[in-house]
Amino acid sequence: MYNNDFKEIVFNRHSVKEFDPDVKISQEEMLQMIKEATAAPSSVNMQPWRFVVVASPEGKKKLRPLIRFNTRQNDSSAAMVLIFGDMKCYEKAEEIYSETVEKGFMPEEVKEELMGMFMPSYENALKEKMNDIVKIDSSLAAMQFMLVARTHGYETNPIGGFEEDQLAEAFDLDPERYVPVIIIAIGKAQGIPFKTTRLAPEKITVFK
Ligand SMILES: Cc1cc2nc3c(=O)[nH]c(=O)nc-3n(C[C@H](O)[C@H](O)[C@H](O)COP(=O)(O)O)c2cc1C
Repeated sequence: MYNNDFKEIVFNRHSVKEFDPDVKISQEEMLQMIKEATAAPSSVNMQPWRFVVVASPEGKKKLRPLIRFNTRQNDSSAAMVLIFGDMKCYEKAEEIYSETVEKGFMPEEVKEELMGMFMPSYENALKEKMNDIVKIDSSLAAMQFMLVARTHGYETNPIGGFEEDQLAEAFDLDPERYVPVIIIAIGKAQGIPFKTTRLAPEKITVFK
């Protein structure tokens, strides 16, 4: 059932805009995919990504007017996964680092050192800086989620076309704290997706 062919997963990933509307994904499997996706790295391991899985008809109805020209994906996907970045992610630092110490992966002194070093800079970071941090980190998890989805036999479409200023509130989140990063539509593909091309590496790379 699992696809572990790395090249197939990477090179046959295409943005799918229409899904089989009869396919649902269990909460258990969704959590498993989120677990696998969040093995992604993040700045000082602060893991600022937060997920809202919109799979119910009520949730989809609420999302529909907020996603502009992406209604087809909303209507047919098994779920629309909203990824937010938590601007106060540092509130979980103690929990994160304590577990690392408990598991024996980090000595207590290193934890204290890291907490003393990074916490003030995170707590006092300018809003724009924090916005960048949580968006970079959450984007890495988002990409990993799309590849993980393919290992589970699903296809995805990353969606940036949505009402950024309304998404958090619509799903009962504090808009000052949770910044929307991306929405990922997920499900089983209906039809064959378009292929796309990429610029040659020589055109986008310099060696110094
Ligand atoms: C940040 C981001 C935002 C995107 N927003 C949309 C979107 O709003 N609607 C859509 O249909 N596709 C969206 N896409 C999909 C891109 O159009 C697609 O990834 C690109 O054309 C390359 O095609 P591929 O994903 O099939 O390789 C988005 C992709 C990214 C990475």
